[in-house]
Amino acid sequence: MSRPGDPLAFEDLVEDYDAARPHYPQALYDGLGPLGTCLELGAGTGIASVELVTRADRLVVSDLGPRMLAKGLPKHHSPAVVCRAEALPFADGSFDTVCGAQMWHWVDKPAGPLEVARVLTPRGRLLLWWNESDADGQPWWDAQQDRIEAGNPLYDRAYREVDFNAQLCEWFTTQEPALLRWSRTISLEVYDRWLRSKSYVQKLPDVDGFVAASLDDLRAVFPDGQVVEPFVTRLWRFERR
Ligand SMILES: C[S@@+](CC[C@H](N)C(=O)[O-])C[C@H]1O[C@@H](n2cnc3c(N)ncnc32)[C@H](O)[C@@H]1O
Repeated sequence: MSRPGDPLAFEDLVEDYDAARPHYPQALYDGLGPLGTCLELGAGTGIASVELVTRADRLVVSDLGPRMLAKGLPKHHSPAVVCRAEALPFADGSFDTVCGAQMWHWVDKPAGPLEVARVLTPRGRLLLWWNESDADGQPWWDAQQDRIEAGNPLYDRAYREVDFNAQLCEWFTTQEPALLRWSRTISLEVYDRWLRSKSYVQKLPDVDGFVAASLDDLRAVFPDGQVVEPFVTRLWRFERR
């Protein structure tokens, strides 16, 4: 499957990623339920790991990218394993819960779901979540998305709108995702770094030009330089069959 960016691109974006990516709302963590022994896939710089480590009996973090993973270690001090979600170096039935924040779209199917089902205990849970912009219809957001789609033919703003029930129903019980609406306010400087931390933005022919045009649009809407960004966080909670 073609992807709009390169999964290893994050390895060169660690500082911008960690400084500017949105976190997840507390209500998301409250909705996860008991985690028991927990494996986090694609943990990156540990944005979710710092919360998971306080809730799990034991947390192990993993990621394809060693630099992303290393950035998070001082924050959560959890055992860390560099590996792909499609080839997990753990025994069958090792974890009560497997979590993935903003990462499952990178995972090959069916190899990923098969591996996750293998390392989960019977009736173990797979918890997946994403932050998505909730700014559809706002001209600054629509213009930004139009520019990315024009400059990166593999990018489609609807790329997270996947029917995970259809994708995972062979191994997991189906359910509807929970939707959590929230917003954050960030400076234009942070917004600049947030744009540059996206792998599909790094595929644009003129990243600087794209960022400059996007910030101009934002200045017009937020003249005090404080950008209010609305999000919806979508949480899927699957149980192993
Ligand atoms: C958008 S980042 C999300 C990081 C972190 N979970 C967060 O919420 O900020 C996606 C992460 O998935 C990792 N990744 C991409 N493909 C992967 C794969 N097949 N298996 C494991 N990790 C992968 C990347 O290295 C990156 O750290």
